[in-house]
Amino acid sequence: MNDGLFDLSGSVAAVIGATGVLGGAIAEGLASHGASVAVIGRNADRGEARAAAINRQGGQAFFVSADALSRPSLESAREAIEQRLGPCDVLVSAAGGNNPRASVTEEQAFTDLPLDAWRENFDTNLVAGALLPAQVFGGAMVDRAQNDPSRRGSIINIASIASHVPVSRGVAYSAAKAALRNLSMFLAREWALRGVRVNTITPGFFPAEQNMRLLFNPDGTPTPRGQQALDRTPMARFGDPGELVGAAVYLASHRASGFVTGADLVVDGGYLSSTL
Ligand SMILES: NC(=O)c1ccc[n+]([C@@H]2O[C@H](COP(=O)([O-])OP(=O)(O)OC[C@H]3O[C@@H](n4cnc5c(N)ncnc54)[C@H](OP(=O)(O)O)[C@@H]3O)[C@@H](O)[C@H]2O)c1
Repeated sequence: MNDGLFDLSGSVAAVIGATGVLGGAIAEGLASHGASVAVIGRNADRGEARAAAINRQGGQAFFVSADALSRPSLESAREAIEQRLGPCDVLVSAAGGNNPRASVTEEQAFTDLPLDAWRENFDTNLVAGALLPAQVFGGAMVDRAQNDPSRRGSIINIASIASHVPVSRGVAYSAAKAALRNLSMFLAREWALRGVRVNTITPGFFPAEQNMRLLFNPDGTPTPRGQQALDRTPMARFGDPGELVGAAVYLASHRASGFVTGADLVVDGGYLSSTL
């Protein structure tokens, strides 16, 4: 029986960071469930390639260049999407990353962390990763829902296990991701009666370009840090980016998750459920 619970046909999804590994997989997944997708990021080569892959698979996508740290840049992107695909129903905020200059290491104590690198982590993961996208895209969703209550919006911010418990070393990344989760809960309440749901997805360890060297040696075996992550994950493996699609489609679909806001969907192979 197909009851359309997960059918996103007729909806428009903006995926910021779809030029990257996890955002890209989510963009493809939303498109394969019927959404028209705007692939958003700064890297035009990767963005065009991702949009082309979606179109080849029978979906509808196009690349829009935008810097999520710039409100005017995001506003131009939103206008371009509205002209090409129509108003956005779904926003996925997947921009993020760890600048290791703000990490505690053998060479750098917590007391010596450079403030500019600390701020950079907050800019990337909180300001670009949730704040400005919610202001620009979420604001438009709220306005539209006021005029037509049948047009509701769904915002999905990509959190991290570091939102829940700080990872060793990555102190600024962890604090910024915790703030992203907190902001998402704030917005869930703020916009609950204004037609916009706000939820997060918490991925566990997923090999991506940005963490490849952290997790794997050049010969493909796990680094000590990679092995630590595997040992702490009850399913004893890393995630595959496609394993985030179900969570994203569920949260994007009002038929499937219309009463769900402020929630966090953890996709981590059990990482957060285990201790020793
Ligand atoms: N991989 C994991 O294990 C894991 C685990 C938990 C959470 N996460 C989170 O999942 C998200 C995606 O990570 P990923 O692993 O897929 O890394 P990734 O491949 O490096 O993707 C991150 C994307 O963020 C985009 N981005 C960064 N700053 C931006 C800005 N100012 N404006 C627009 N786009 C920006 C980058 O796009 P451009 O270069 O095109 O600008 C990049 O494609 C991040 O929020 C990350 O923190 C990842």
